Amino acid sequence: MRFIDEYLKDIKDRGLYREFKFFSGPQSKYISIRDRKVLLMASNNYLDLCNDDRLKEAAEAAIRTYGVGSGGSRLTTGSYELHDQLEKKIADFKNTEAAILFNTGYMANIGTITAIADKEWTLFSDALNHASIIDGCRLSGAKIVVYKHCDMEDLQKKIKAYEGNKRLIVTDGVFSMDGDIAPLDKIIALAKENNILTMVDDAHGTGVLGDNGTGCVEYFNFKEQVDIQVGTLSKALASEGGFVVGSKSLVTYLRHKARSFIYSTALSPATIAVSLCSLDIVKNEKNKRIRLLENAQWFQGELRKLGFRVLESNTAIIPLIIGSAEKATKLSEKLFKKGIFITAIRPPTVPEDTSRLRITLMATHSREELKHVLDSLKEAGMELGII
Ligand SMILES: Cc1ncc(COP(=O)(O)O)c(C=O)c1O
Repeated sequence: MRFIDEYLKDIKDRGLYREFKFFSGPQSKYISIRDRKVLLMASNNYLDLCNDDRLKEAAEAAIRTYGVGSGGSRLTTGSYELHDQLEKKIADFKNTEAAILFNTGYMANIGTITAIADKEWTLFSDALNHASIIDGCRLSGAKIVVYKHCDMEDLQKKIKAYEGNKRLIVTDGVFSMDGDIAPLDKIIALAKENNILTMVDDAHGTGVLGDNGTGCVEYFNFKEQVDIQVGTLSKALASEGGFVVGSKSLVTYLRHKARSFIYSTALSPATIAVSLCSLDIVKNEKNKRIRLLENAQWFQGELRKLGFRVLESNTAIIPLIIGSAEKATKLSEKLFKKGIFITAIRPPTVPEDTSRLRITLMATHSREELKHVLDSLKEAGMELGII
């Protein structure tokens, strides 16, 4: 089809073509790609649990007891005791009344926003919210009011301009491509003042932020003040699946109204068993996230000393801004040749002219390994005239 060929040629010409790199072994800080050992600096596997023996054993035991597929959606034949256990455990972990599982974080956002909002609603959405929030807002048919990234003055102005009693502010907790944390304290204050509901997607805070690793609500020390919290089990928790936590009535409502929950086959028992086990690890192994966040702070400081443009981040996500998509791709390729895997993130995932290397740390990266990455980045950055 001509329009497809033209599209593909256009994105190739603009340095926006995307290709897979296939791993031939487990995911940890070192991965195998075509028999090469490569240092991974781009994964959301923040606590390096994807190849943890305890999680693998949990999956194996669940397969022996329950088999593999779940056989249907949760409301038909796909509900196992394990699902119930995990929902209770997530609610307990997040300190809320109840939880509901979705198959992915993407489906959690889409299902929740469309279950709540329709064309009578106004949704205030941060300009850098994740695609799944944007898609949920669009699908809902509600009026979408985008406010400037983390800009509370702009949000306040827009709240005043769009009055009404069916309003929701929706934001990432940690912004996935920028690594910064939404000013939840201010957002919640504005929401309360104006009688607006709040929804926070804490995909990248869960397991990483807060004293108990429960995420950005704990980081800000806000108990039960966010109406709807979304999270995912696919990042720090090294499993799969999304969830929503909040009041019992919210969860019961979503069970009846969220189409991405109702009309999709449930997560498999092995996946659920992994999540149950990794929640325990997150709870009990605080040292992992302390080390992760300390290293991330140190590493971004060193990058700045080298002359790189790095966005301010209090998380494990460190965005090294390049600007041009082509240059970002070249830098990523040069690093790959040196045995380091960092993905170039380009439009439409990020705004035009803000292509970047999205560097993410794992709790197991050592200072020696990080120094090696800094040396390689320095060399490649100089070769390309970036620093
Ligand atoms: C902020 C945010 N929300 C939701 C998701 C989707 O989560 P999942 O990968 O579980 O679908 C992601 C992951 O890419 C994300 O970064």
